[in-house]
Amino acid sequence: MVAERVDFVVGVDAHRDEHALALVEAASGALLAERRVASDGGGYAQALRFAQEQAAGARLWALDGAGHYGAGLARYLSERGETVLEVGPGTGYYSLDVARWIGPAGTLHLFDLQQEMLDHTMRRARAARLENVEPRQGDARELPYEDATFDAGFLVAVLGEIPDQARALSELRRVLRPGGRLVVGELAGDPHMVTGRALRERGERAGFRFERRVGPRFGYFAALRRD
Ligand SMILES: C[S@@+](CC[C@H](N)C(=O)[O-])C[C@H]1O[C@@H](n2cnc3c(N)ncnc32)[C@H](O)[C@@H]1O
Repeated sequence: MVAERVDFVVGVDAHRDEHALALVEAASGALLAERRVASDGGGYAQALRFAQEQAAGARLWALDGAGHYGAGLARYLSERGETVLEVGPGTGYYSLDVARWIGPAGTLHLFDLQQEMLDHTMRRARAARLENVEPRQGDARELPYEDATFDAGFLVAVLGEIPDQARALSELRRVLRPGGRLVVGELAGDPHMVTGRALRERGERAGFRFERRVGPRFGYFAALRRD
């Protein structure tokens, strides 16, 4: 797990004109500090100072492109060598980081309704020389995988787009091994956003235990576990 290797994670949410930084304690997932810096040389110097001031002498890991939400995701999907399923990767915003975290001994299976999304993400994976990514096209209401195939699964800004969420959650439960983790990310501004409360209810009805959520009210990552 990340917490055994580092003390803090700095999530860097990169934008065109400025980057948002968030310092998260690896063991608890608690958000400790936030800072915005310009996306130029001066900003990077400020980012370095932010990390030095906030976590002097500690073991740090910076995670690009995912902000503090991504740091929460990392805590749950960071076992090396695991077999992980991502439903609805889209253009692969989270996919390449997860493929790197699980390492060459692990496999990230990408499953999306749209073949062009899979093609796009696979092109990015090949360009990044990642060979542990396996694409498959289909509908999350019927997952083409054997029972108990995966150690973990995740979907970000996807659940609300699926017409039968109960069916998709029950399929996800089926393909996870007992004890397997499911991370669901939902982001503010998404017209299909599923609230934390709705996710908890639907997840529990599908047979998951709701473990925790990180993030503010309008955007979050939640971790559920298949007992
Ligand atoms: C809003 S995008 C999210 C992309 C990515 N997870 C992210 O956070 O940037 C939703 C993705 O879910 C996929 N999707 C929607 N309904 C699906 C379904 N029933 N089965 C599988 N994938 C689905 C879409 O094709 C699209 O790639």
